[in-house]
Amino acid sequence: MKDTIRQLIQQALARLTTAGVLPQGLSPAIQVENSRDKTHGDFASNIAMMLAKPAGLKPRELAEQLIAALPADPQISKVEIAGPGFLNFYQDQQGLAQRLDAALADAQLNVRKAGPAQRVVVDLSSPNLAKEMHVGHLRSTIIGDGVARVLEFLGDTVIRQNHVGDWGTQFGMLLAYMEENPSAADSELSDLEQFYRASKKRFDDSPEFAERARELVVALQANDADCLRLWNRFNEISLSHCQHAYDRLGAKLSPADVKGESAYNDQLADIVHALGSKGLLSESNGAQCVFIDEFKNAEGNPLPVIVQKAGGGYLYATTDLAAMRYRSEQLKADRALYFVDQRQALHFQMAFEVARRAGFVHPGMQLEHMGFGTMNGADGRPFKTRDGGTVKLIDLLDEAEERAYSLVKAKNPELDDAELRKIGHVVGIGAVKYADLSKHRSSDYSFNFEQMLSFEGNTAPYLLYAYTRVASVFRKLERSMDGSLDGQIRLEATQEIDLASKLAQFTEVLNNVADKGTPHILCTYLYELAGLFSSFYEHCPILTAADAATQQSRLRLAALSGRTLQQGLELLGLQTLERM
Ligand code: ARG
Repeated sequence: MKDTIRQLIQQALARLTTAGVLPQGLSPAIQVENSRDKTHGDFASNIAMMLAKPAGLKPRELAEQLIAALPADPQISKVEIAGPGFLNFYQDQQGLAQRLDAALADAQLNVRKAGPAQRVVVDLSSPNLAKEMHVGHLRSTIIGDGVARVLEFLGDTVIRQNHVGDWGTQFGMLLAYMEENPSAADSELSDLEQFYRASKKRFDDSPEFAERARELVVALQANDADCLRLWNRFNEISLSHCQHAYDRLGAKLSPADVKGESAYNDQLADIVHALGSKGLLSESNGAQCVFIDEFKNAEGNPLPVIVQKAGGGYLYATTDLAAMRYRSEQLKADRALYFVDQRQALHFQMAFEVARRAGFVHPGMQLEHMGFGTMNGADGRPFKTRDGGTVKLIDLLDEAEERAYSLVKAKNPELDDAELRKIGHVVGIGAVKYADLSKHRSSDYSFNFEQMLSFEGNTAPYLLYAYTRVASVFRKLERSMDGSLDGQIRLEATQEIDLASKLAQFTEVLNNVADKGTPHILCTYLYELAGLFSSFYEHCPILTAADAATQQSRLRLAALSGRTLQQGLELLGLQTLERM
């Protein structure tokens, strides 16, 4: 709807330019907002205030001229001037009802992408395989998966890339330990954290061991067959742990999405070479660097992106440059989104800039770091176990499911245990994911079981419960929530109109999530939708409606609410339940 209004304003501006009211060559960003107070219309724009000056008119005068120049549109019933010169648009309720009827009949709920479909690389999860995946990787996995799902739903081609850390000096230590304890691979590796600690201890305690670890790094880099075998075995086990976590979380990630750092090894020399031939390299203390003037340290000196160490080794940035080139040239991406800790912001800004200057990505390719904050404990401090260790993802999910199970059991003691377990799973995992998704990704976030499992507020249990309320209406009537329902939507009560306006925003909300990579926008939307549904449900009886046409209309609104909630939750990666 906002897009429609923007287009109407655009046309009015063009008319006024032709008529000489506005000067040539203006291309303002036309802003259209949802009105808070519906008695002043549904949408408002400040365009007349923005352009009054160049037009040499008072804002209200320009607003009048704009209204006269606006083309008629069946979706808009009237436009008024308000305050200093706002344009207030009233949406035509019949048009709104018709659009919702059409959405109900459409499997895609009439959601369309605002721009052309794109090929989008989503870089997500990307844990380091040397250690067990921990809570820090939760955010990248969950948020990245949520955005990827929204992009797919809008019709983009999404290529998930799990850029796992499967290379580097720490592997020497791990391989040395595997070599020393041949049986460890099968027993101790089931607990990677343990394995890592044991090898680190050997490395610190024994100079011979440390020496062997260094030899193994060299051998690994020289593609020594025995070494590669051990390394492969290690990564296989570590990746299977990750896959187990993805499955448990319901994240759409598979082994086919893994394209680890090592996959770019054979291109790193060429990356450095290419940078050299473009004249972008300088040597600094024996290391090969690209200096970019825009990035300076505290003393005002340009910061380097180091691409090759004095000893010849390559770095994290070198691999990222190779990955960008691959994503542009081989994957033909229009856009690449990096769901990585906010603390890597500078790394990405600089690496993106180097890739552009070197021509590693095509000029139109969008490169975006979708940074996220740190996950803290309920006390606001970095998330740790009681004894200070890192919290394992799997332990966390176990606890979430167990707590959800107990909560639901206390509420519904009559349900059998198998169903309670199923509900516990959906609610527990959903709560963990939703808590993360519902905050703006760039802020730090406190992990708090009580809060995320509460049935009140913007939480998974609240939304899942809201969905079951809709589902129960349809279960009682033995109807399904789709276009096979009779009748048409008619908007009469304010609760119906408010719910309908919210439902009509679904497309816009999803487009926003896709543009900004911020699933919390969808969470807020679903939470508001659930609230509006709840008032509608209280004030506009369905089963006891006065007449058949009213009942049909309300059922259709309820169906579209249920479908939108269900679809929205699915896009966030949450399952829904028919009852709980
Ligand atoms: N493995 C890295 C880490 O855990 C994240 C990699 C993110 N992706 C990338 N293309 N750099 O810090």
